[in-house]
This record gives sequence, structure tokens and C-alpha cells, in this order.
Amino acid sequence: MRYVKVLQADSLQDGEKIKVTPGDKALLVTRVQGAYYAIDNRCPHMGGSLYDGRLEGDTVLCPKHGTAFNVRTGKVTRNGRIAFISLKVSDVKAYPVKIENGDLLVGLD
Ligand code: FES
Repeated sequence: MRYVKVLQADSLQDGEKIKVTPGDKALLVTRVQGAYYAIDNRCPHMGGSLYDGRLEGDTVLCPKHGTAFNVRTGKVTRNGRIAFISLKVSDVKAYPVKIENGDLLVGLD
């Protein structure tokens, strides 16, 4: 696995998120209770940018239709809705992270 530096770890405070674009990817990086997580930024439903959604604890909400994703695992924890219709949305990919010399690195394929 190839690890790529995406930011200086201490530039992200607890409860914050940032969008990073290593290579051809767009990732949402979050810091929750002192730990860092990286998932794909693009909602699989209709491409909502998760960075533009609300971060609540370890959950980020898609700004388009409200699907909730766990930032630790990328798994959907609550389906969004359009009007009264509950959506079936796929999970997003979660990436391994590590800190080296104060830098946050994300493991890409
Ligand atoms: S685009 Fe994310 S739930 Fe529809």
C-alpha cells in the first residue's frame, strides 16, 4: 500500500473535517476524539460532497439527501430520504491513515 501525505496532522482540530485531493481521489478527512479517519468524499447516491455535510461525532451527513455515514468505517448508518422515500445508498470506501513526523498519511490502493 502506498501512503501519501495529505496534511500536517495538528492543522485539524477535534471535530473538524477537511477535503483533500491526493492524486485523482477526493477524500474527506476527519478528526474525532483525537483519531483521524479518511473516507471517499463523494456520496455514491448522487455525488453529494460529504465535506459540505454536517459532522456529528463520528457521523457525517450527506448535504443532498441526508444519508448518514460513519467516518470511521464509511458504512451507511441511516439512509437518506427524498420526500417520503427512503434511499438505498452504498457505503463509501474508508482508507487507512497513519501519522509520521507530524504528517497525516493516507494509504491509497
Ligand atoms: S447525494 Fe447523498 S444521499 Fe443523495
